[in-house]
Amino acid sequence: MKTTIIRVNHAVFDPEELRPAAEALAGGRLVAFPTETVYGLGADALNPEAVSRIFRAKGRPSDNPLIVHISDLTQLERIVSSVPEKARMLMETFWPGPLTLILPKSKDVPDETTAGLSTVAVRMPANRTALELIRLSGLAIAAPSANISGAPSPTCASHVISDLSGRIDYIIDGGSTQVGLESTVLDMTADPPVVLRPGGVSVEMLEKVIGYVNVGKIPDGVSDTAPKSPGMKYRHYSPKAEMILVSGESQRVVDTINDLVEQYRAKNKKTGVLASAETRSGYIADVVLCPGSRNSPETVAASIYGCLRDFDQHGVDIIFSETFPDEGIGLAIMNRLQKAATGRVIRV
Ligand code: TXA
Ligand code: MG
Repeated sequence: MKTTIIRVNHAVFDPEELRPAAEALAGGRLVAFPTETVYGLGADALNPEAVSRIFRAKGRPSDNPLIVHISDLTQLERIVSSVPEKARMLMETFWPGPLTLILPKSKDVPDETTAGLSTVAVRMPANRTALELIRLSGLAIAAPSANISGAPSPTCASHVISDLSGRIDYIIDGGSTQVGLESTVLDMTADPPVVLRPGGVSVEMLEKVIGYVNVGKIPDGVSDTAPKSPGMKYRHYSPKAEMILVSGESQRVVDTINDLVEQYRAKNKKTGVLASAETRSGYIADVVLCPGSRNSPETVAASIYGCLRDFDQHGVDIIFSETFPDEGIGLAIMNRLQKAATGRVIRV
């Protein structure tokens, strides 16, 4: 299949540039597009055949449901059967934005989209290209992250091109995404609501609007039994290299990682370190990548998936990663790092 790339420039933005992609969506085809979190791979959420194409293109297990993206609140009626008061408050505060709400589904949403669940995930993305594309298509758009299943989510068009070129109809290149990690997934069918995946809207921000939310035990991809959010049980967000987190006082972390680097070098392994700006110069590994300063967790969140992909480009065999404080967006950062490392943490 030929994949057409449409480059949009936000400074001189003409929504008409998106029309061929919007028409492809209406015809049941696949279009990758930027959102504020990561790139999504979109299809008509109410067309079972179109949605099945997403699963085939990504190699995604069919029991992992999709998020339905809307550009206008009036679309909700078609998608969900009811909206509790707390959900309404969250929509008013955080939409458009990186918050996905799980609500009871309407009868129009096919099983392919929700993996047979009686609930549906909905969000309104805060990205002008995404909103215009959805509006032009006249549809609600089901979209998982636009990566091959299991790989780190794409934060720029080149990531999408390397994973999905030749497998989908259009890729809209809108530059780098701002948040860099996926949306927060919040189950509104429970009261208090339950965070199923930490993300762009922090627990602290949610609680300011609706009071206590249940963070529960966020699955780390290793010890899960029956996760409520099916997607959380898979190995995810992973570079090809093996990854180990090292946690503790910062000088001890640097020393421990350098010892490990020497041990792996002795075994002829190419080593990588994911380090904060504060400590990066202390490492002796072959490839040291820095997603940002510990004082700027938003920057770290925005860069982390790009770093994981860069390690693969460098062909490292093993990545040692520092850990980050788990407040605010840090909870999402640590969730993704833990999953990428399949739960392997050394505490020093
Ligand atoms: O930021 C994002 O959310 C991005 C952009 C493209 O919007 N999308 C994204 O989609 O991350 P995906 O498919 O990679 O992750 C969706 C997550 C999965 O963990 C899935 O299991 C969960 O949402 N999910 C979807 N529908 C659900 C439902 N009805 N109940 C529980 N969890 C659900
Ligand atoms: Mg994903």
